[in-house]
Amino acid sequence: MSDVDAIVISAIEEFGRITDADELERVKARFLGKSGSLTALLKTLGTLAPDARREAGARINAAKDRIEAALDQRRDALANAALDARLAVEALDVSLPGRGRGLGGIHPVIRTWQRIESIFNSIGFDVADGPEIETDWYNFTALNNPENHPARSMQDTFYVEGSDAGGLPLLLRTHTSPMQVRYACQHQPPIKVIAPGRTYRVDSDATHSPMFHQVEGLWIDENVSFADLKGVYTDFLRKFFETDALQVRFRPSYFPFTEPSAEIDMMFASGPQKGRWLEISGAGQVHPAVVRNFGLDPERYIGFAFGSGLERLSMLRYGIDDLRLFFDGDLRFLQQFR
Ligand code: DAH
Repeated sequence: MSDVDAIVISAIEEFGRITDADELERVKARFLGKSGSLTALLKTLGTLAPDARREAGARINAAKDRIEAALDQRRDALANAALDARLAVEALDVSLPGRGRGLGGIHPVIRTWQRIESIFNSIGFDVADGPEIETDWYNFTALNNPENHPARSMQDTFYVEGSDAGGLPLLLRTHTSPMQVRYACQHQPPIKVIAPGRTYRVDSDATHSPMFHQVEGLWIDENVSFADLKGVYTDFLRKFFETDALQVRFRPSYFPFTEPSAEIDMMFASGPQKGRWLEISGAGQVHPAVVRNFGLDPERYIGFAFGSGLERLSMLRYGIDDLRLFFDGDLRFLQQFR
């Protein structure tokens, strides 16, 4: 084997052992560089006779081509290996499940709120909204519940320091009923409205929370009767609970702003709560004194109002037995309503 062949073979062998691209370039210099072994052979050409020189030159050039080819092949192999390694590390496994965004959900009481709005909307009721910090006048006085009247003690109230621009005491509204007066003073009959919202009382146990939700309903026109109240409310309950298998009764009661006043009770004909009368809402024919505070003539206008608790409706709909669950913020509870 000639020197030239030996150089080619050792170059191919060495290239094959190298696993690092920079190292490959350094080793290349040992064969093809200025002081590389093949270059050294080239330098000896000058000492040869012309014929021998031509023949040796051709062999050396062929060897150079083979070394360069081996080098290119190794470079490609190393580059491919490097790419494979990178792909393995940076690979995106599209079959992995996503991380998710922790999707939120609508709170069960707000679900009830939204259902009530859409049900009453569908039978022509407007939806109104009003302040949670209310004046003493809208919350009590205008609703035929004057200062020092014992009926005020039906609702244990959070008073707010200070007073409104007119000097009236402020409080957190104890019910949504002040919205009857606010809305009726700004609209002409026929008045058909519901007003859902937050309400507050000094009260806290398994069925009461200091903050809770009510929906007020008011229908005032020249000829609205108790029969209309019964029809509208029964219809509402059937839509809300998605069953016609329920009964509704009116039990005499007292509220300062209605006369006569009633408690609305309902009873399911089937399901886990069947056969028990459940108190669901206060209601009544709006008191003439309140109609007068609407700015209307009670000899001409008449109608009904009701006020129902959204927590109560939600508890019955979903079979929840402790109202505090709504406000504990426990995800195990809330996630059931997503
Ligand atoms: N505001 C009453 C309460 O919170 C509920 C109520 C009773 C509202 C009778 C009404 C009504 O509109 O007519 O206890």
